[in-house]
Amino acid sequence: MPKKKPLVVVSRRLPEVIETRMCELFDTRLNESDKPLTHDELVEAMRTADVLVPTITDRIDSHLIAQAGEQMKLIANFGNGVDNIDVASALDRSITVTNTPGVLTEDTADMTMALILSVSRRLVEGASAIPDGSWPGWSPTWMLGHRITGKRLGIVGMGRIGQALARRAKSFGLSIHYHNRRRVAAEVEEQLEATYWESLDQMLARVDIVSIHCPHTPATYHLLSARRLSHLRPHTILVNTARGEIVDENALVRMLEADEMAGAGLDVFEHEPAVSPKLLKLAKAGKVTLLPHMGSATIEGRIDMGEKVIINIKTFMDGHRPPDRVLPSML
Ligand code: 8YV
Repeated sequence: MPKKKPLVVVSRRLPEVIETRMCELFDTRLNESDKPLTHDELVEAMRTADVLVPTITDRIDSHLIAQAGEQMKLIANFGNGVDNIDVASALDRSITVTNTPGVLTEDTADMTMALILSVSRRLVEGASAIPDGSWPGWSPTWMLGHRITGKRLGIVGMGRIGQALARRAKSFGLSIHYHNRRRVAAEVEEQLEATYWESLDQMLARVDIVSIHCPHTPATYHLLSARRLSHLRPHTILVNTARGEIVDENALVRMLEADEMAGAGLDVFEHEPAVSPKLLKLAKAGKVTLLPHMGSATIEGRIDMGEKVIINIKTFMDGHRPPDRVLPSML
């Protein structure tokens, strides 16, 4: 008798080629409405499926994991960050967790560079001036931004995406500074001509642009606290394409309102998908560029992420160790 296919529940719509392949390989339950699953639907999935494929819009917390049936064996996250999943609880119940690292590195670094340029060169304000009819015609002093060449970029979290940003920023003439839990290999520092700062506080006080690239874990929640943000100088801009929770958003808003920093480019928010009305006001005033979590939003990236999910499920179901297992040491 042929082996029974595993039941795989996918929480959101994925690129068509990925859904098609998943349906060929597994007994796949798709979400054709693309509406995030309700709590009850997630409970039902945990009770019945062998594999759950969640995204950042699903909170897989300890209560939900406690309701998993014996058959639930794998949570194959469609995404790199796993802060939507209580990984420790899953591992305690012998549920394996996988993610999709590597394939969204370059896209996210591109979007970060776009935000750095957008905030520094007033791209959003400029681009709306023509449709708004507010362009007075060329003027030597109108809509002036700031040059990025020659400035200091401080990268918080020098993993894959941090390094990919550093490569781009270096070719734009920025000097690279970074803070990381561990100093990166000497060859990497040499290639990027990067300066390591053991003290995040000291780095923040000396850079012109800050970009966040660490994962969101209990240890990095509000890493950029009000106290740390107060080290920034008034001309500094901050860019975040990692997770909103890493920055104390209220403190950031207060500093922007008080002109204690020059601007921000945010692709992620502390209470996503809600965006603080104060940030909306700052966006209208041209102080911040806000993007709706688009860092990895390329069709190529999303297909590659889907491929990783399939490989992780298939490898696991074939009785092997999936390539992107999330281990306790990563948390
Ligand atoms: C994803 C992300 O699109 O992968 C991540 O960690 O932040 C995003 O780029 C999203 O998380 C998918 O679940």
